[in-house]
Amino acid sequence: MGKKKKIGLLTSGGDCQGLNAALRGVAKGLDNAFDEVEFYGFTDGYRGLIECEYKTYEANDFSGILTMGGTILGTSRQPYKQMRVIDENSVDKVAAMKRTYQKLGLDCLVILGGNGTHKTANLLSGEGLHIVTLPKTIDNDIYGTDLTFGFYSAVDIATHVIECIHTTAFSHSRVFIVELMGHKAGWLTLYAGIGGGADVILLPEIPYDIDRVAEAITRRNNNRNKFAILAVAEGALSVEESKMRKKEFKAARAAMAYPSVSYRLAAELEEKTGKEIRVTVPGHFQRGGSPNAYDRIFCSLLGAAAADLIAREQYGYMVGYVDNKFVPVPLSEVAGRLKLVPPDCQVVTEARRLGISFGD
Ligand code: F6P
Repeated sequence: MGKKKKIGLLTSGGDCQGLNAALRGVAKGLDNAFDEVEFYGFTDGYRGLIECEYKTYEANDFSGILTMGGTILGTSRQPYKQMRVIDENSVDKVAAMKRTYQKLGLDCLVILGGNGTHKTANLLSGEGLHIVTLPKTIDNDIYGTDLTFGFYSAVDIATHVIECIHTTAFSHSRVFIVELMGHKAGWLTLYAGIGGGADVILLPEIPYDIDRVAEAITRRNNNRNKFAILAVAEGALSVEESKMRKKEFKAARAAMAYPSVSYRLAAELEEKTGKEIRVTVPGHFQRGGSPNAYDRIFCSLLGAAAADLIAREQYGYMVGYVDNKFVPVPLSEVAGRLKLVPPDCQVVTEARRLGISFGD
């Protein structure tokens, strides 16, 4: 009989579909790999680790959550920049997290999260903690993996939104802007835009020229289509804005008279095209509800692959998905890097061949 394994689990940052499925995958994988495993689920991500707030679980407790949205552990955003800052209660967060890990005698901490989460995971790994991570985000922008979980579930929802907008846009001969999540990376908008049949797709990675966007709408109208759909990432920006320094851009956006870039686009395009334009923002709807079938499978397999790394005592890695294989990717390679849409990638090139305008 081997020694009982003690495994910490936490979900951090914005939630997404598939977090519970991935937790279940990890628990099942470890339950099959070891004689005895005790799980420590930290409440609300790194906050629970800092404050030593957790619940204990047995592998069986993760049964029945494969299809459940959200995260049973709870999550919160704990900015990486603040991790080294001593807070108003004199708490050294890094020291506190190490203390919790050591006090509970954990063998490994499994962290499910996005970009910010991975920076802190790498920091903890550098501090000597045994860490294994899984790539979570509807943005699909984590470096070192072709895919993140949550992405395809969000693509399904965003595509469905565009599909529903189609019928009302057609009836009213209107132009619709559907604003989708993604501040820095446009993957979700790109895929949902193609899946939903958008005429124009605007991404943070491809700055738009408002005249080119107006031309695309007019061209479509001249082809006897009286309506048009624009899929716009929340982080889309104009060519002029793309030339600004970070500070200047932030100030310009703070002073903008519209709640988001889509409303500004609507006002500018109404003037340029004379068409009636409406904006739809599905927002957090995109992150809600059950994971789709693909994510259920993907998360289960990711979880099993994480369990295998732990069984082989390989720590300091994210389980990435590269060229259809689950592979360990060093956290030091993942942390602090983003995977953006390359403007000349094949998906964009083929989308252009379909007649989709990127506003450039
Ligand atoms: O990172 C995932 C994400 O859903 C982004 O697409 C979005 O910009 C952001 O989180 C929203 O964050 P919050 O839930 O904190 O408002």
